[in-house]
Amino acid sequence: MIHKTKYMKNPKIVSGFSKLTKTGKIRWLAENFFRNPEEVARELKSFWYGDPQKQKIFDEFSENTISNFYLPYGVVPNVMINGEVYCVPMVIEESSVVAAASSAAKFWLDRGGFKAEVISTKKVGQVHFEWYGSVKKLEKLMPELRKMIHADTAHITCNMKKRGGGIVDIELVDLTHLEDNYYQLNMSFETCDSMGANFINSTLEEAARILRNFLSSRTELSAKEREVTIIMAILSNYTPECLVRASVECPVADLESFNDGEMSAETFAYKFEKALKIASIDTYRATTHNKGIFNGIDAVVLATGNDFRAVEACGHAYAARSGQYRSLSYAKVEDGIFKFWLDIPLAIGTVGGLTNLHPLARRSLEMLGTPSAEDLMKIIACTGLAQNFAAVKSLVTTGIQKGHMKMHLMNILNHLEATEKEVKEAVVYFADKIVSFTAVREFLNLLRTAPNGMPLPTPILLYNNNKK
Ligand code: MEV
Repeated sequence: MIHKTKYMKNPKIVSGFSKLTKTGKIRWLAENFFRNPEEVARELKSFWYGDPQKQKIFDEFSENTISNFYLPYGVVPNVMINGEVYCVPMVIEESSVVAAASSAAKFWLDRGGFKAEVISTKKVGQVHFEWYGSVKKLEKLMPELRKMIHADTAHITCNMKKRGGGIVDIELVDLTHLEDNYYQLNMSFETCDSMGANFINSTLEEAARILRNFLSSRTELSAKEREVTIIMAILSNYTPECLVRASVECPVADLESFNDGEMSAETFAYKFEKALKIASIDTYRATTHNKGIFNGIDAVVLATGNDFRAVEACGHAYAARSGQYRSLSYAKVEDGIFKFWLDIPLAIGTVGGLTNLHPLARRSLEMLGTPSAEDLMKIIACTGLAQNFAAVKSLVTTGIQKGHMKMHLMNILNHLEATEKEVKEAVVYFADKIVSFTAVREFLNLLRTAPNGMPLPTPILLYNNNKK
């Protein structure tokens, strides 16, 4: 407001943007932020869904939408969990991730598959408030308040109750030792097959109103005690009691040998266990290690229309629950058995939200056999474990670059618009060389300019490779 006149002269500042049509939004954007507005407008529109009705669905997920941002949708077959075989959908842009999960799934399929169990499914939220009386008085009022919250939120909770969920518990938490007059109503919930964010937040907001009215009506309290300042009412994405465990195990001898027989199964198991210990000791390694787990987890969470930010935030908080950020997975060799497992809180759903609105999320769930939320927790956790196994397996054997470089080469070749024939030649040529953008470009230049059949002058390429 203060600088209105100054800002109004800036063409990059707009008012009423949300009211423009989609084409209007694109026009304004293209004209003010791009050098080639026509081309940009055409490109943005080229990513619109062919069917306007379907496009409308995507537009309405969010606000100020101008186009769709595509991500690859892949699948991992052969994922055996508790004896059931799944083909798991993954949405991820990073190369090698789906290939790694697929190879881990196949590896464990031959060794009995993954096991998974849901340990608990509780979700939580808090009414944060300030109160200016003695905690003893509040504690005394809690049984009555609890009853009232249960009764007076029934219009919100009745459907969930019919499905077997609802409010599980309401606790008073005294945090006045951390912040003057600060209390919480800590409420826990069962939300059945839904992630339950809307249900929890609506119930919490209603509980906050009930708390205010309840205290204001207590004649035994002083005028000051009849007042409460509600700071906020909101679910917590930290759900350590919505926990699932995924695991694999097999005799060490069944791990086979690695690196063309150069690494024995025993050495592999030893190095794997050490790598997991390191990820538990060292936060630098733990972060990358857990990132590898989330490569798998986020991809399935996204493919099934769930909230990956919530899942990530919770997973990282859980990884730091001891006061230090550590690995989410563990490994040990015991009596000749290699054991590898992952404990992860996953607040996800298979009904409600995007899960049924996004056409491909719906297909993902159908592909997975229309799972319950608990089944999906197991599938997601096992995919995280598969991803983690594949990453650590590569790290302690060949290193990850070997696999990555193949994909990296393909990406560069695509970028340089290599023909099918050039791709074939490049794959053979770079089989034993370091891949870099410059090296691939030079290779293609030479290939494209060298007379047919003439051998390529490799020293230039080797020189470039050595420089890297
Ligand atoms: C790459 O996206 C993920 C890894 O770095 C994970 C790890 O190091 O464990 C390979």
